[in-house]
Amino acid sequence: MATVYLNGKYVPKGEAMISVEDRGFIFGDGIYEVVRVIEGRIFAWDAHAARMANGLGELRIDARGADSATLRAVCEKLVADDGLTTGEATVYLQVSRGAAMRVHHFPPAGTKPTVYAAASPFKPNFAMREEGAKGITYPDVRWARCDLKTVNLLGAVLARQAAAEAGAYEAIYHRDGIITEGAATNAFMVVGGVLRSHPLSNYILHGITRAVIVELAAELNIPLDERPVSLLELPQVDELFVCGTTTDVQPIVVLDGKPVGNGKPGPVTVRLREALAARLYGTGK
Ligand code: PDD
Repeated sequence: MATVYLNGKYVPKGEAMISVEDRGFIFGDGIYEVVRVIEGRIFAWDAHAARMANGLGELRIDARGADSATLRAVCEKLVADDGLTTGEATVYLQVSRGAAMRVHHFPPAGTKPTVYAAASPFKPNFAMREEGAKGITYPDVRWARCDLKTVNLLGAVLARQAAAEAGAYEAIYHRDGIITEGAATNAFMVVGGVLRSHPLSNYILHGITRAVIVELAAELNIPLDERPVSLLELPQVDELFVCGTTTDVQPIVVLDGKPVGNGKPGPVTVRLREALAARLYGTGK
């Protein structure tokens, strides 16, 4: 059985126990991360750790035992103990505000956060990345702090279920007539030869993969305009892709049943998909 990490201990997954009063369980009062591990090497650790520290700080969750060096060592030990140093894996990390009597405001000072991590084997769907996938548009009903990677994922649960029921891979959110991001990915579109993406704000997650795509676009001289795309512009969108830690660059070739551009992964998408693969598997940082 896989080993997981809980509050300073490594335990078999089936024996890991948290309190029924844990605020992650009761309120969704916690922050999480998902990191990618390739041949035992964590991709973009510093960026993930910084985003987690920022989220914990914004929510004023005690980050005791959840500093970057500790969590990195935890990830590396889990990957090693679970026999995942070859091939690919992901590590899920979660820190909640801890267990305390149910009151909405913060629990008494000194309440220990709950720190959890678990590694899993991961197999990218290379065929889907090559061929493209279907997407749907879906109203972005989330709260206004989408920049925080909180464990409140009801928006994503409902959106991804709608996508699954439509036979699609991803739901592309729109808020007030503009495209924000995917349910569990960031979105990029090519309109009139220019790569567009919603700017960093409180309405999207500041994706680690998105940041790498922004860097790669500059390296490849692909013009980028971080200006949102409106629903009204959709007929002019030639290429659409979503990206994320477990998604890489995933072309979306059919949206709401209509082909995007010519219905095949477009040239800008393919260049960025290959450049990201080189970072992940080649000279990665
Ligand atoms: N999802 N936007 C949202 C809403 C996300 O949930 C995610 C990640 C991303 C992409 O971020 P990154 O490149 O840092 O993974 C964008 C994770 C992987 C998940 O919920 O499983």
